[in-house]
Amino acid sequence: MNEKKHWNRIAPSYNDEIFDVFQSDKKKKLPRYFKKHAGLDKTAIDFGCGNGKSFPYMAPQFKEILALDISADLLKQAKQRGYTNVELKQEDLTRKNLVLPNVDFAFCCNVIMFPVIEKNLFMIKNIHRALKTGGTALIVLPSLDSALFSSWRLIELYGREGVKPSDIPAHEFHYFKGNKRDILQGIVHIDGVPTKHYMEPEIQVIFKEAGFSVTKVDKLEYDWNTELTSPPPWLEAPYPWDWLVECKKN
Ligand SMILES: C[S@@+](CC[C@H](N)C(=O)[O-])C[C@H]1O[C@@H](n2cnc3c(N)ncnc32)[C@H](O)[C@@H]1O
Repeated sequence: MNEKKHWNRIAPSYNDEIFDVFQSDKKKKLPRYFKKHAGLDKTAIDFGCGNGKSFPYMAPQFKEILALDISADLLKQAKQRGYTNVELKQEDLTRKNLVLPNVDFAFCCNVIMFPVIEKNLFMIKNIHRALKTGGTALIVLPSLDSALFSSWRLIELYGREGVKPSDIPAHEFHYFKGNKRDILQGIVHIDGVPTKHYMEPEIQVIFKEAGFSVTKVDKLEYDWNTELTSPPPWLEAPYPWDWLVECKKN
């Protein structure tokens, strides 16, 4: 996939089409994590900033922020937010050995989800390289466990209506339309786009290999209506989630 073209095409309808993590984060954990790591003497990079949804949270709490994205059209929208301590730059963050300024904090929300697995690893290493020693990265990643759990819930809900798994309409499982190898690698189709999803132990392995210490793997939980059309009102926790990885460069 050509990411630049893809994201520039989506840019005009970005707010309608793309899931808003900040708005959907049920327990409002992201602002609390920013507060934990922020400081008015600290610098930060937002890797894959999109149209700048993190800026209202990050800009007032950091000295300077470098916001990077592959899409010039999304960067234009981000610039319109008017934050004077945010510098915007177009960059392909999957390029191997990218040279970036050293910062205290890195944020990256739902970007490291390329179906070409090596691109994800290059990007994690670029984040590691950009951090000062002792710096922290906060990274949001799609969860494979959550995708499987949501499908399990769907089958269970159909069961309550007397529908056997074999009679559930095929379109309900359009997420898992890749071959066996794709599914085992966590490639789940979101709105027709193959999207890498992660298991928690896999996160432990790949972040360690990139040189990070993982200090916490938390959940950003969302309402059931983000996964199911018309979920019953009684359907509660466990909710669907993305992983929130807090990790440190030693
Ligand atoms: C799902 S959006 C998330 C945007 C933002 N982090 C947020 O949470 O609102 C994914 C973002 O990654 C950017 N992106 C995709 N591939 C990229 C690449 N190779 N290099 C830099 N940015 C990329 C897209 O342009 C888009 O802004």
